[in-house]
Amino acid sequence: MATKLSVNINKIATLRNSRGGNNPSVLQAAIDCQKFGADGITVHPRPDERHIRYSDVRDISKIITTEFNIEGNPTEDKFVDLVLEVKPAQVTLVPDSPGQLTSNHGWDTIKEKEYLQRIIGVFKNAGIRVSIFIDPVEEMAAAAAATGADRVELYTEDYARNYNKDRNAAIAAYVKAATIATQNGLGINAGHDLDRENLRFFKQSIPELLEVSIGHALIADALYYGLENVVQLYKRELKD
Ligand code: PXP
Repeated sequence: MATKLSVNINKIATLRNSRGGNNPSVLQAAIDCQKFGADGITVHPRPDERHIRYSDVRDISKIITTEFNIEGNPTEDKFVDLVLEVKPAQVTLVPDSPGQLTSNHGWDTIKEKEYLQRIIGVFKNAGIRVSIFIDPVEEMAAAAAATGADRVELYTEDYARNYNKDRNAAIAAYVKAATIATQNGLGINAGHDLDRENLRFFKQSIPELLEVSIGHALIADALYYGLENVVQLYKRELKD
C-alpha cells in the first residue's frame, strides 16, 4: 500500500507574507502540488494568521481535488467554525499554543479524553475524518481509540532528530505506538521533520502508514529541485 503524501504549504504562506502581496501564491502552490501528484494538501492556520490565513483555507477548499487536511487547535472557536464551514476530508487536532513556533507535543489522550471525545464528536457529526496528533507513547496510542478519533498522527520530530545516530533505536517507539493504535482500530498518519533521507525507513518500518504530511523539508528541497521534481521524489520514497 502506497502511503499518501499530503504537502503542507504553510511555508509558501510564510514566504508570501514576508513581503505582502501575493508572491508566491499559496493557491497556485496548492493547485500545482496536486497537478504534480500530491495526494493531499495540508494547512495549519494559527490564530494570528502568521502564515496560512483563514481566507487561504477558504480559497483552497474551492480548488481541492485531492484530500484537504486542516490542522489546528480546536480550543479556538474560530478554528472549529472554519473547519465546519470548509468541511475538509480530514481535520488533524494539535494541542499547540497560539504563539508556538511549530507543534511540539501531542495530546495527552488519557487526561484530555473527555474534551477530545466532545470535540471529535462535533467534527465527526459533520462527516469529517478526525486525526489526533500524539507522541509515540503506547499508552497515548491505546487511549486515543476511546476519544473517537479515526486516526492518530505520530509526531516524528524525535525520530527525525535521532535518525542519523541510530535509526533502529529512533524508530522503536513509533513501531510500538503504531502497532497499539492499529490493534485499537486507528489509522496511522505521521508528520514533523520528515525528509527525503528519513522518510523511506519510516515507511518501511510502519507498513500500515496511511499518510504523511510534509512541509518544511519538502519546500526547502523545492528551492533546489523545483516543486514538481520534489513532489515526485517524496512520492517515490513512499512507494512499497
Ligand atoms: N504535522 C503537524 C501537526 C504539524 O504541526 C506540522 C508542522 O506544521 C507538520 C506535520 C509538518 O512538519 P514539517 O513542516 O516539519 O514537515
